[in-house]
Amino acid sequence: MKKIILASNNTGKIREFNAMLTGIYEVVSMSDMNVKEVPEIGLTFVENALIKARNASEQSGLPALADDSGIVVDALNGAPGIYSARYAGNHGDDEANTQKILDNMAQVADAQRSARFWCAIVFVEHANDPTPIIIQRGWEGEIMREKSGENGFGYDPIFYVPTHKKSSAELSSEQKNNISHRGKALQALLSELKN
Ligand code: IMP
Repeated sequence: MKKIILASNNTGKIREFNAMLTGIYEVVSMSDMNVKEVPEIGLTFVENALIKARNASEQSGLPALADDSGIVVDALNGAPGIYSARYAGNHGDDEANTQKILDNMAQVADAQRSARFWCAIVFVEHANDPTPIIIQRGWEGEIMREKSGENGFGYDPIFYVPTHKKSSAELSSEQKNNISHRGKALQALLSELKN
Protein backbone atom coordinates (compact mmCIF):
# COMPACT_ATOMS: atom_id res chain seq x y z
CA MET A 1 0.00 0.00 0.00
CA LYS A 2 1.28 3.47 -0.89
CA LYS A 3 2.52 5.61 1.99
CA ILE A 4 1.26 9.14 2.39
CA ILE A 5 1.93 11.77 5.04
CA LEU A 6 -1.00 13.63 6.55
CA ALA A 7 0.09 17.22 7.15
CA SER A 8 -1.88 17.90 10.33
CA ASN A 9 -1.41 17.72 14.06
CA ASN A 10 -5.13 18.14 14.77
CA THR A 11 -6.24 14.87 16.40
CA GLY A 12 -9.89 15.37 15.37
CA LYS A 13 -8.93 15.72 11.72
CA ILE A 14 -6.42 12.85 11.85
CA ARG A 15 -9.13 10.57 13.26
CA GLU A 16 -11.52 11.48 10.43
CA PHE A 17 -8.90 11.10 7.70
CA ASN A 18 -7.73 7.75 9.05
CA ALA A 19 -11.31 6.45 9.08
CA MET A 20 -11.80 7.52 5.48
CA LEU A 21 -8.40 6.36 4.12
CA THR A 22 -8.19 2.95 5.80
CA GLY A 23 -7.32 0.27 3.25
CA ILE A 24 -6.49 2.85 0.57
CA TYR A 25 -3.28 4.45 1.85
CA GLU A 26 -0.90 3.78 4.68
CA VAL A 27 -1.18 7.11 6.47
CA VAL A 28 1.77 8.37 8.50
CA SER A 29 1.60 11.40 10.75
CA MET A 30 3.87 14.43 11.06
CA SER A 31 5.17 13.13 14.39
CA ASP A 32 5.96 9.68 12.86
CA MET A 33 8.30 11.46 10.44
CA ASN A 34 9.51 14.20 12.79
CA VAL A 35 8.05 16.93 10.61
CA LYS A 36 8.03 20.43 12.08
CA GLU A 37 5.09 22.77 11.46
CA VAL A 38 5.45 25.87 9.30
CA PRO A 39 3.65 29.19 9.81
CA GLU A 40 0.35 29.33 7.93
CA ILE A 41 0.81 32.71 6.29
CA GLY A 42 -1.71 32.39 3.44
CA LEU A 43 -4.89 34.44 3.17
CA THR A 44 -7.04 31.58 1.89
CA PHE A 45 -7.69 27.98 2.88
CA VAL A 46 -6.08 26.83 -0.38
CA GLU A 47 -2.85 28.77 0.18
CA ASN A 48 -2.49 27.40 3.71
CA ALA A 49 -3.20 23.82 2.62
CA LEU A 50 -0.53 24.12 -0.08
CA ILE A 51 2.00 25.52 2.40
CA LYS A 52 1.34 22.61 4.80
CA ALA A 53 1.41 19.91 2.11
CA ARG A 54 4.67 21.14 0.55
CA ASN A 55 6.32 21.44 3.95
CA ALA A 56 5.32 17.92 5.05
CA SER A 57 6.44 16.43 1.74
CA GLU A 58 9.75 18.30 1.79
CA GLN A 59 10.61 17.16 5.32
CA SER A 60 9.44 13.55 4.93
CA GLY A 61 10.19 12.77 1.28
CA LEU A 62 6.66 11.33 0.95
CA PRO A 63 3.60 12.37 -1.06
CA ALA A 64 1.52 14.61 1.21
CA LEU A 65 -2.09 15.33 1.92
CA ALA A 66 -3.06 18.53 3.73
CA ASP A 67 -6.38 20.00 4.71
CA ASP A 68 -6.99 23.56 5.76
CA SER A 69 -10.45 24.08 7.08
CA GLY A 70 -12.60 26.26 9.26
CA ILE A 71 -15.97 27.82 9.79
CA VAL A 72 -17.23 30.85 7.86
CA VAL A 73 -20.03 32.80 9.56
CA ASP A 74 -21.99 35.19 7.34
CA ALA A 75 -23.12 37.53 10.15
CA LEU A 76 -19.44 37.90 11.18
CA ASN A 77 -18.35 38.81 7.63
CA GLY A 78 -16.80 35.39 7.10
CA ALA A 79 -14.93 35.22 10.44
CA PRO A 80 -13.30 33.23 11.88
CA GLY A 81 -12.47 31.70 8.46
CA ILE A 82 -8.79 30.76 8.11
CA TYR A 83 -8.28 31.83 11.73
CA SER A 84 -10.79 29.24 13.06
CA ALA A 85 -8.22 27.26 15.06
CA ARG A 86 -7.07 30.37 16.97
CA TYR A 87 -10.17 32.61 16.97
CA ALA A 88 -10.08 33.23 20.73
CA GLY A 89 -6.28 33.57 20.90
CA ASN A 90 -4.83 30.19 21.79
CA HIS A 91 -4.33 27.74 18.92
CA GLY A 92 -6.68 24.78 19.23
CA ASP A 93 -8.71 26.01 22.23
CA ASP A 94 -12.03 24.61 20.97
CA GLU A 95 -13.90 25.59 24.14
CA ALA A 96 -12.89 29.26 23.99
CA ASN A 97 -13.30 29.48 20.20
CA THR A 98 -16.83 28.09 20.38
CA GLN A 99 -17.79 30.40 23.21
CA LYS A 100 -16.47 33.42 21.31
CA ILE A 101 -18.76 32.67 18.36
CA LEU A 102 -21.74 32.15 20.67
CA ASP A 103 -21.02 35.50 22.37
CA ASN A 104 -20.52 37.38 19.09
CA MET A 105 -23.74 35.90 17.71
CA ALA A 106 -25.88 36.47 20.81
CA GLN A 107 -27.81 39.40 19.29
CA VAL A 108 -28.09 37.93 15.79
CA ALA A 109 -31.60 36.93 14.67
CA ASP A 110 -32.44 33.33 13.71
CA ALA A 111 -32.73 34.18 10.01
CA GLN A 112 -29.20 35.62 9.93
CA ARG A 113 -27.31 32.72 11.49
CA SER A 114 -26.13 30.98 8.30
CA ALA A 115 -22.61 29.56 8.26
CA ARG A 116 -20.58 26.90 6.50
CA PHE A 117 -17.65 24.68 7.23
CA TRP A 118 -15.08 24.98 4.47
CA CYS A 119 -12.33 22.57 3.54
CA ALA A 120 -9.47 22.86 1.08
CA ILE A 121 -7.60 19.61 0.49
CA VAL A 122 -4.31 19.51 -1.34
CA PHE A 123 -2.34 16.50 -2.54
CA VAL A 124 1.27 16.86 -3.69
CA GLU A 125 3.30 14.02 -5.15
CA HIS A 126 6.52 15.76 -4.02
CA ALA A 127 7.50 19.07 -2.40
CA ASN A 128 7.85 21.03 -5.65
CA ASP A 129 4.93 19.37 -7.45
CA PRO A 130 3.80 21.95 -10.07
CA THR A 131 0.43 20.21 -10.54
CA PRO A 132 -0.99 19.69 -7.06
CA ILE A 133 -4.52 18.35 -6.80
CA ILE A 134 -6.67 21.01 -5.10
CA ILE A 135 -10.24 20.37 -3.98
CA GLN A 136 -12.60 22.63 -2.02
CA ARG A 137 -15.96 21.71 -0.51
CA GLY A 138 -18.38 23.45 1.86
CA TRP A 139 -21.06 22.24 4.27
CA GLU A 140 -24.01 24.57 4.88
CA GLY A 141 -25.56 25.05 8.30
CA GLU A 142 -26.42 27.54 11.02
CA ILE A 143 -24.88 28.72 14.27
CA MET A 144 -26.88 27.44 17.24
CA ARG A 145 -27.60 29.46 20.40
CA GLU A 146 -26.00 26.90 22.70
CA LYS A 147 -23.80 23.83 22.47
CA SER A 148 -25.25 20.39 21.90
CA GLY A 149 -23.61 16.99 21.39
CA GLU A 150 -20.33 15.31 22.31
CA ASN A 151 -19.00 13.88 19.03
CA GLY A 152 -16.58 15.43 16.56
CA PHE A 153 -14.34 18.34 17.51
CA GLY A 154 -13.93 22.10 17.16
CA TYR A 155 -17.14 23.94 16.29
CA ASP A 156 -19.25 20.78 15.83
CA PRO A 157 -21.34 21.37 19.00
CA ILE A 158 -22.64 24.75 17.73
CA PHE A 159 -23.10 23.86 14.03
CA TYR A 160 -26.73 23.03 13.21
CA VAL A 161 -27.17 20.65 10.27
CA PRO A 162 -30.60 21.42 8.73
CA THR A 163 -30.75 18.14 6.75
CA HIS A 164 -30.50 16.11 9.97
CA LYS A 165 -32.10 18.63 12.37
CA LYS A 166 -29.26 18.25 14.88
CA SER A 167 -25.80 19.61 15.59
CA SER A 168 -22.83 18.07 13.81
CA ALA A 169 -21.60 16.91 17.24
CA GLU A 170 -24.78 14.80 17.46
CA LEU A 171 -24.01 12.95 14.22
CA SER A 172 -22.09 9.67 14.30
CA SER A 173 -18.64 9.91 12.75
CA GLU A 174 -19.88 7.85 9.79
CA GLN A 175 -22.83 10.20 9.22
CA LYS A 176 -20.59 13.25 9.49
CA ASN A 177 -17.92 11.88 7.15
CA ASN A 178 -20.56 11.16 4.50
CA ILE A 179 -21.81 14.74 4.28
CA SER A 180 -19.17 17.03 5.78
CA HIS A 181 -16.91 19.52 4.00
CA ARG A 182 -13.90 17.26 4.69
CA GLY A 183 -15.69 14.02 3.78
CA LYS A 184 -16.90 15.40 0.44
CA ALA A 185 -13.52 16.95 -0.37
CA LEU A 186 -11.70 13.71 0.39
CA GLN A 187 -14.13 11.63 -1.68
CA ALA A 188 -13.55 14.00 -4.63
CA LEU A 189 -9.80 13.83 -4.12
CA LEU A 190 -9.79 10.04 -4.07
CA SER A 191 -11.72 9.80 -7.33
CA GLU A 192 -9.33 12.35 -8.85
CA LEU A 193 -6.35 10.25 -7.70
CA LYS A 194 -7.87 7.12 -9.27
CA ASN A 195 -7.82 8.92 -12.62
P1 IMP B 1 -6.58 24.15 10.73
O1 IMP B 1 -6.01 22.94 11.40
O2 IMP B 1 -5.68 25.33 10.71
O3 IMP B 1 -7.11 23.81 9.35
O4 IMP B 1 -7.81 24.61 11.64
C1 IMP B 1 -9.07 24.09 11.46
C2 IMP B 1 -9.99 24.57 12.59
O5 IMP B 1 -11.29 24.77 12.02
C3 IMP B 1 -10.16 23.52 13.67
O6 IMP B 1 -9.31 23.74 14.76
C4 IMP B 1 -11.61 23.68 14.08
O7 IMP B 1 -11.73 24.69 15.03
C5 IMP B 1 -12.28 24.16 12.80
N1 IMP B 1 -12.85 23.00 12.05
C6 IMP B 1 -12.42 22.51 10.85
N2 IMP B 1 -13.15 21.44 10.49
C7 IMP B 1 -14.04 21.24 11.48
C8 IMP B 1 -15.05 20.25 11.69
O8 IMP B 1 -15.26 19.31 10.91
N3 IMP B 1 -15.76 20.38 12.84
C9 IMP B 1 -15.54 21.38 13.73
N4 IMP B 1 -14.60 22.30 13.61
C10 IMP B 1 -13.85 22.24 12.47
